[in-house]
Amino acid sequence: MFETKHPYRVQLTESGQLKHFITTEGLPRELLTEILDTADSFVDMGAQQVKKVPLLRGRTVANLFFENSTRTLSTFELAAKRLSADVLNLNIATSSTKKGETLKDTLMTLAAMQSDMFVVRHSDSGAAHFIASEVTPGVAIINAGDGRHAHPTQAMLDMLTIRRHKGDFTQLRIAVVGDVLHSRVARSQLHALRTLGVAEVRVIAPRTLLPRDVENFGVKVYQDLTEGLRDVDVVMTLRLQRERMTSALLPSESEYFKLYGITDDRLAYAHPEAIVMHPGPINRGVEISSAVADGKRSVILDQVTNGIAVRMAVMSMAMSGQQAERQARADAEAAAAAEQGAEQGAANEA
Ligand code: NCD
Repeated sequence: MFETKHPYRVQLTESGQLKHFITTEGLPRELLTEILDTADSFVDMGAQQVKKVPLLRGRTVANLFFENSTRTLSTFELAAKRLSADVLNLNIATSSTKKGETLKDTLMTLAAMQSDMFVVRHSDSGAAHFIASEVTPGVAIINAGDGRHAHPTQAMLDMLTIRRHKGDFTQLRIAVVGDVLHSRVARSQLHALRTLGVAEVRVIAPRTLLPRDVENFGVKVYQDLTEGLRDVDVVMTLRLQRERMTSALLPSESEYFKLYGITDDRLAYAHPEAIVMHPGPINRGVEISSAVADGKRSVILDQVTNGIAVRMAVMSMAMSGQQAERQARADAEAAAAAEQGAEQGAANEA
C-alpha cells in the first residue's frame, strides 16, 4: 500500500477499500481487478430481463456535469438506476468564471439535500480531488472526467473490454494512438495498463500531441503508425481534442487521417485478431475510417455496454467504502466513550 500522504490516498479508506473514485493512478492491481470482477457480474446481469439490484436502494446519487456529455452521463444514470438509487441529473454550464466559489456552494447545497454520491464532470483538472478532500469528504465522489487529468471509469471500462476479449493482460501488446497530450482518457488508461501488468504498451502520435514526460508512463513511443501497430493485440484510438488545442499543433484533419487514421490497410500490420477501440465521440475519417469503426474488429459498442457495468461496480464499491468508514468512526467513538466511562468509574471508586 502507499503512504497516507499520497495525494491519491484520498480515494481509499484506512483499510484500503474504495470510497471515492478519482483516478486510476496509484491504485493497487488487486483493487483494479476487484473493479473488473465486480463489473463482470453486472455485464451478465445487464443481459437479463430484470436488470436491477438493490445495492443502492434508498441512496441518492447526483450527476453533476459542469461539462457536456451524452454517453458518460446516460450510462452513469442507467448504472445508478440499475443499482436502485434515486438519481438527480444536473447539467450545469461552465459559463461562470467564479468556479471555485460556485462549485463549493452548489455542492454544499446538494450535500444538504442528503445526497450520498456525486458523479462529477468538470473542465478543471483536479476538481474531483478537491471536492473529495476539501468540500464534501463524506459524500462518495466519482470522477466522470476532470479537465485533461483523468477519466477513470472510461479507463476501467476499456480494461474490462480488453479483458473480456483478450484475457490475460500480461500477454498483451497494446497501442494507444492519437492525441495523448490533451486526453484525460489516455492518462487514466496508461496508469491502468501499467498497473495491470500489460507486457508492452506503445504510444503512437506526432510529437506535438505527446506530453513531454510521456516516457515516464513506461511506454514505447512511435511516430510512425505502421511501425507502432506491428503485431499489437489491441488498438486504442483517441479523439482529437480540438477544443483543447490552443495553437496549431496539426496541419489539418485530413493530413492527420493520412498519417494516423486507423484504416483496414493500416490494421493489416497488427495481429490478425487485434481489436479496435475508441472512447467516443468518434470523428469518422479523422481518427478512424468508417469501415474500421463499423467493422468486425471494432469493439466500440461493447465499450458502451461495459461502461454501465463498470460504473455500477465503482458506485457500489465506493458506497460500501463510505459506509465502512462511517461504521469504523462510530465504533471508535463508542470505544472512546466506553473507555472514558470506565476511567470515570474508576476515579469515582477511588
Ligand atoms: C471522452 C471524454 O469526455 O473525455 N469521452 C467520453 O467520455 N465519452 C473522450 C473524448 O471526449 O474524447
